Amino acid sequence: MISFKKVTKQYNGDFIALDNINLEIKDGEFVSLVGPSGAGKSTLIKMLIREETPTSGQVILDDIDLAEVKNTEIPFLRRKIGAIFQDFKLLDSKTAFENVAFALEVSGVPAEEIKTDVMQVLGIVGLSGKGANFPRELSGGEKQRIAIARALIHRPKIILADEPTGNLDLVNSYEVVKLLWKINEIGTTVILATHDREIVNTVSKRVISMEHGKIVRDQTQDGKYII
Ligand SMILES: Nc1ncnc2c1ncn2[C@@H]1O[C@H](COP(=O)(O)OP(=O)(O)O)[C@@H](O)[C@H]1O
Ligand SMILES: [Mg+2]
Repeated sequence: MISFKKVTKQYNGDFIALDNINLEIKDGEFVSLVGPSGAGKSTLIKMLIREETPTSGQVILDDIDLAEVKNTEIPFLRRKIGAIFQDFKLLDSKTAFENVAFALEVSGVPAEEIKTDVMQVLGIVGLSGKGANFPRELSGGEKQRIAIARALIHRPKIILADEPTGNLDLVNSYEVVKLLWKINEIGTTVILATHDREIVNTVSKRVISMEHGKIVRDQTQDGKYII
């Protein structure tokens, strides 16, 4: 369970990027976070991986106030939460397999186990045959699917996707959204932040609309308005 309680974020001491956000997201939900550029979507996402902390209010994940997580514990928090971004953030000098394996290597997982786990997540994203390819040898859509495989490697309970389709054409965008959907169906909470309303219309799950740092609408899957 994710809970934002009266969360306000000010940058540089005055600009209000998030304005008194109250929000609950239950385990297993698929939530689309929409709104124009500058609405505060990325700031909200960053709160969950402790890249930013609230100026006031609390962000609570499974009864833990994230502001109280010690710096040394942040890597553990980030294993519970997989994140993907518009620009993929793959390492160009590593193959697709190595990009996915890297997170396990630094955690000291034995090589055999790494191989099994990496092949499994490459299977989930439909790229079992591309493990030996370098990022430059992959299409944009494939790169994002490798980034999704990497985000899945620690079997996170939450996947955060911040504008994951921002660099993709319509067909590849749709593939990525379908994949996020599939990941949600196997039990992962998914939060998809995007300014692209078209993409969200294909999902038809809970949609939270943000403007100027506020939640202006919160519509559940069956069309009911929470806000
Ligand atoms: N590190 C920062 N310092 C100052 N202002 C920021 C910073 N990050 C974001 N902002 C501002 O906060 C507002 C919300 O940004 P952001 O959360 O990135 O919105 P979105 O993801 O919806 O486009 C924007 O006006 C942006 O310029
Ligand atoms: Mg953003």
